[in-house]
Amino acid sequence: MSLIAPGSVIGILGGGQLGRMLAGAAERLGFDVDIYCPDTDAPATRVCRRHWQGAYDDGALLAEFAAACDVVTLEFENIPVGAVSVIEASGTPLHPGQRSLSLSQDRGDEKAFLNSIGVATADYRLIDDNTDIAPALVELGAPSLLKTRREGYDGKGQAWIRSPADIESAWKSVGMAPCILEAAVPFEREISVLVARSSNGETKTWAPPHNVHLDGILSTSTVPSGLPADVEHDAREQAIMLVDALGHVGVLALEFFVLPDGRLLANEFAPRVHNSGHWTPEACQTGQFEQHIRAICGWPLGDTRRLFDAEMVNLIGDAGLVTPDHLEPGDVLTLYGKREARPGRKMGHITRRLNPRKD
Ligand SMILES: Nc1ncnc2c1ncn2[C@@H]1O[C@H](COP(=O)(O)OP(=O)(O)O)[C@@H](O)[C@H]1O
Ligand SMILES: [Mg+2]
Repeated sequence: MSLIAPGSVIGILGGGQLGRMLAGAAERLGFDVDIYCPDTDAPATRVCRRHWQGAYDDGALLAEFAAACDVVTLEFENIPVGAVSVIEASGTPLHPGQRSLSLSQDRGDEKAFLNSIGVATADYRLIDDNTDIAPALVELGAPSLLKTRREGYDGKGQAWIRSPADIESAWKSVGMAPCILEAAVPFEREISVLVARSSNGETKTWAPPHNVHLDGILSTSTVPSGLPADVEHDAREQAIMLVDALGHVGVLALEFFVLPDGRLLANEFAPRVHNSGHWTPEACQTGQFEQHIRAICGWPLGDTRRLFDAEMVNLIGDAGLVTPDHLEPGDVLTLYGKREARPGRKMGHITRRLNPRKD
């Protein structure tokens, strides 16, 4: 696998905050970055060499973009398969590839794949129309969670069903689209494993953070997670198994529910850098954004050792309208440059470095 050298052009599909932070890491390593994104004024489009503004089904523009780049990656996994095929046909490497993307785009395929490689998940049933829900609810028990198979994020496209009386309203609220019905998981906490796999097959994981969600949106990520070492080890091994099975190249986040007895149930994976890894640049030897760039460029992966205990706090909606005088001296602030704060919108985050680690 050839090494992509500094001075090359990295193309990123998607223009949000993840693209902006990836671009920052790439730029520090001496790369130029082009962003492909349909929106005007998106966070990453203001920090790149060139913004290619076009739709994800504009094959001609995508081909031109791919030809201008030495490697293409993404910050957003819901890239239509057609766009992925255009990039692959261009001869410019695309990391991660089709397999990681298509599996993560569909909750049904994702869970089936996780189970097929021995990664346990909550019990679930595929729901093609509303008449499938009542029998599935009997099998899984109430409450159960109805989730659209495609396009859900930050808790969107989900509805709890507490009794058969909720079925119709839940089905309508998720847009009557193909779904899964998922058994409720009585989790003790949620964690995620950030893992990187390079185009050479080398893998590295970071310590798993304890993630707290409010209204379906990540609120804080804290390390250490407070879990026993063997549970963390198990989670990290499962994440490595997943990226190896996918042939994934780049960073990937695997979310887990931790049951009271320490058993792990995988929830979902994102084939990209992830909000629950935002503390890594400040608290670890190598952060997730730099690691992703190293991985897709065939560089040796950096050391993921954690140097500090840390807490990452998301700034959501109006909380993102911070001014520097709100900060504690030790807070490391990252703002995404979004022009407008809306409820539920991720505007930035703060990382607090707590105790330096002595081991
Ligand atoms: N089966 C479940 N049982 C209990 N809580 C759940 C379940 N599935 C999801 N949740 C809660 O909702 C959050 C968001 O769900 P998730 O499936 O990760 O979707 P999203 O793509 O929106 O992140 C989870 O982090 C968890 O807090
Ligand atoms: Mg999630």
